[in-house]
Amino acid sequence: MKLYDEVVQLWKKAGISVGSSDLKEEIEKMLKRNPNLFLIGKIKEKIIAVVMGGFDGRRGYVHHLAVDPIHQKKGYGKMMMHDLINDFRRIGVHKIHLFIEKQNQAVVDFYNNLGWQMRDDLIMMSIIPDKSMYKMRI
Ligand SMILES: CC(C)(COP(=O)(O)OP(=O)(O)OC[C@H]1O[C@@H](n2cnc3c(N)ncnc32)[C@H](O)[C@@H]1OP(=O)(O)O)[C@@H](O)C(=O)NCCC(=O)NCCS
Repeated sequence: MKLYDEVVQLWKKAGISVGSSDLKEEIEKMLKRNPNLFLIGKIKEKIIAVVMGGFDGRRGYVHHLAVDPIHQKKGYGKMMMHDLINDFRRIGVHKIHLFIEKQNQAVVDFYNNLGWQMRDDLIMMSIIPDKSMYKMRI
C-alpha cells in the first residue's frame, strides 16, 4: 500500500476526522513547508503511529497524532510526542499548540500526563475562506 494511503487508513482507524486538508495534494503542501516534522512510527514495516507537526514561523502546531488501536497504551504516543517536541526545539520554536475536540476527553488526560497545559484564557475561532474547497470529511 502507498505511504499516503496507509497513513490515512491509520488516522481513520484511530478515529481521526480526515477532511479536505488531508487530501494527498494538501499533505504534500504541508510536507513541503515542514519537511522534517511529519513523523511515522513503524513496526516491521507497518505504520502504527503518525503525527504531523507544522511551524508557521512563530508557533508550532501538532496535528493528527494517532496510534493504531491495537498498539495503544504501550508508550508509542508518548514517544512520538517526545520526538516531535525535540524536533520543534531544534528549529527554535518557542511555543506549541494543539487542538482537541471537546468530546475527546481521554486525549486531554493523555496530554496532561505529558505536561501539556490546558488553556482556558483563549477561545478558538475559525473561518472557511472558500466553502467550495472545504470538506470536514473525505
Ligand atoms: C492519544 C493517543 C495517541 C495516545 O497514544 P498511546 O500510544 O495509547 O499513549 P501512550 O501509551 O504513549 O501513553 C502515554 C501515557 O499517557 C497515558 N495515557 C494514554 N492514554 C490515556 C488516556 N486515554 N487517559 C489517560 N492517560 C492516558 C498512559 O497511561 C501513559 O502514561 P505513563 O507514561 O504514566 O505510563 C492514542 O490513544 C490515539 O491514537 N487516540 C486516537 C486518536 C486521537 O484522539 N488522537 C489525538 C488527536 S488530538
